[in-house]
Amino acid sequence: MRKKMTSEQKALFIIFGGTGDLAQRKLYPSLFNLYKQGYLKEHFAVVGTARRPWNDERYQEIVRNSISGMEVTAKQANEFSSHFYYQAHNVNDTDHYETLRKLADELDGKYELEGNRVFYLAMSPQFFSTICQHVKTQGLVTENGYNRVVIEKPFGHDVKSATELNESINQYFPEKDVYRIDHYLGKEMIQSIPALRFSNNIFNALWNYRYIDNIQITLSEALGVEERAGYYENAGALRDMVQNHILQTVAMLTMNAPTMYTDQDIRKEKISALKALRVYDKNGVKQNFVRGQYGPGNGQVGYREENQVAPDSQTETFVAGRIFVDNMNMAGVPIYIRTGKRLTKKETRIDVVFKNAPYNIFGSEPLKQNILSFKVGPNPGMELRLNGKEVNFDQYRIQSMHLRHSHGENTQSKMPVGYEKLLYDVLQGDSASFSHWEEVYYSWRFVDAVRQAWDEEKLSQDEFQNYTCGSMGPQAAKELLKEDGNKWYFRPDEN
Ligand code: BG6
Repeated sequence: MRKKMTSEQKALFIIFGGTGDLAQRKLYPSLFNLYKQGYLKEHFAVVGTARRPWNDERYQEIVRNSISGMEVTAKQANEFSSHFYYQAHNVNDTDHYETLRKLADELDGKYELEGNRVFYLAMSPQFFSTICQHVKTQGLVTENGYNRVVIEKPFGHDVKSATELNESINQYFPEKDVYRIDHYLGKEMIQSIPALRFSNNIFNALWNYRYIDNIQITLSEALGVEERAGYYENAGALRDMVQNHILQTVAMLTMNAPTMYTDQDIRKEKISALKALRVYDKNGVKQNFVRGQYGPGNGQVGYREENQVAPDSQTETFVAGRIFVDNMNMAGVPIYIRTGKRLTKKETRIDVVFKNAPYNIFGSEPLKQNILSFKVGPNPGMELRLNGKEVNFDQYRIQSMHLRHSHGENTQSKMPVGYEKLLYDVLQGDSASFSHWEEVYYSWRFVDAVRQAWDEEKLSQDEFQNYTCGSMGPQAAKELLKEDGNKWYFRPDEN
């Protein structure tokens, strides 16, 4: 069984990038939720660091603003924010770590934190390794408590850079203390995949190549690149979404059952699944991957007209692919993936399509396949498409029916926001919902092959800007499934 944290936790959080968007939008509200539930109480403190010359008062005000939209009284907001301290900091300056160490030690004494520290790196990845080095060499790591480092994505931009980064971090922090964030792993419905697969024998028994026809994973977004074009131009959809969120989802869907539901056992199986990803050569990439870029349409500008985007940009804002996990259970099952910006609607879902009954005794109309859908967001829930009897008495006909489950409003209001669950797990030292280094390595190995094939082939203007805003991506993404006699189950563009 997994441990359950039931009481107040003692910890000092040092947030590098404490003035940033992520900290304000996600981390402070998540910490506040943990505070409201009593997991953080008297014995915690947060040090925010960044370059801006703020003071504690200013920082605490920012923290209060970031939780102002939540259910919070003025007294709670004041008490909570009084645990926050600000330290202006240049991550390259050794002396600054000395100041930080003194403040950390002082707060450790004041709040009786027993040396427990969480170093949260919410900044540009170029600083990850420098920060880890200084934190260790300048004595911010304690002897008496735990020292955990939480790292935001992206973890490298290919196998080589990720390996270098990892080796550099490992000089200062062992793998067991490194928590690589993938916020998809904190989502309720992604976490529900093992529950459904491994606690129901009807799915456990059928979850293999004999009964699953194909799996479809869609991470569709309606928004464009917004103000992040600077980053996105160098990343593209493949690095931004496939390497991490999509492949982590693939691992959850294709891994074998862990011996027990513990972080170590789960990670072991996820690593095996990702190691079994079929890595394509150039020809394989051509046959199995589609890239796209949004052109103008439906009142929106095309990607190349966005600020900070090159007018001849070759960055993909859409990816679709057919991938395979070559292991005993899933061999030969096509896993279709797609993600893109400026698509018809925001929706994240997984549709597991089962093979048909071996023979249709009901006559002419072909039976529809059973489909199990995990609706990850925006309205979390599950759906199962079955065949049943149509209600009439003159003919015996089969019709499709949908069993739907969504958590009621009350349960939904209790669902942790992604970061709350992840911070909770960091505090209890549970790394199940974080990516192990080997998972990252095998994901990059797969993605690099696609990237390299694409980089060698420059596309003409006509081949790119190949889908309009508001559509579900380029036509070729539909053809990919058609080649196998399949089609996307989720087709909001046809409604
Ligand atoms: C992030 C990507 O990791 O995930 C963004 O960098 C993307 O480009 C986001 O918009 C999607 O996350 P969610 O939770 O809104 O589906």
